[in-house]
Amino acid sequence: MVLSLSKANIAIFISGRGSNMVSLIEAMQANEVDAIPVVVISDQSDAKGITRAQTLGVPCEIVSQNNFSNKELFERHIITLLRRYHVDWIALAGYMVIVGQELLAAYPDRIINIHPSLLPTFKGLNAQQQALDYGVKYSGCTVHYVTANVDGGKIINQCVVEVKPNDTVDSLSARILIKEHELYPRALQKVILKTKGEK
Ligand code: GRF
Repeated sequence: MVLSLSKANIAIFISGRGSNMVSLIEAMQANEVDAIPVVVISDQSDAKGITRAQTLGVPCEIVSQNNFSNKELFERHIITLLRRYHVDWIALAGYMVIVGQELLAAYPDRIINIHPSLLPTFKGLNAQQQALDYGVKYSGCTVHYVTANVDGGKIINQCVVEVKPNDTVDSLSARILIKEHELYPRALQKVILKTKGEK
């Protein structure tokens, strides 16, 4: 098996504060992941993550779904941008838009996401609240491949976080987030190495 030495080009998609984006960029810039953060794409013009990306020297493109008459055109525009940056992988990091068929077809098995629960439990929004409502004693975070089945793609990595008796959504979310920041770069490195090994 011959491993390629070239680095993968990563696009990170955000909608908000971008703390997972920062952890991914920092891990790539520290050579802990064999990849280059070539672009950040935000669907929100006021996402806090935009300034954080720029401070880290990563270009940011804002693409709002509102500027397109349908999802297909919106995603075609994104794909044009991704090709311009020679993107190999997409890492969703708090991106609040459901990925559609165009993007899935353009990047098959090349889109990953992080979710704040132990999938397949507590899919969708407010996963930490769902965990508290259910009374689980352990929750955590999951990195998975993105498919048309929202939060349902194959699992890459998980990390368990204990739920404490007095936890609130904020306290549980904060402890899960610390683990997300460790898990996501490791998961990205794992899928990149796996793909290189398959070539
Ligand atoms: C994280 O909890 C992530 O798991 C979920 O959305 C949140 C994004 O946070 N998909 P941030 O923008 O990375 O800080």
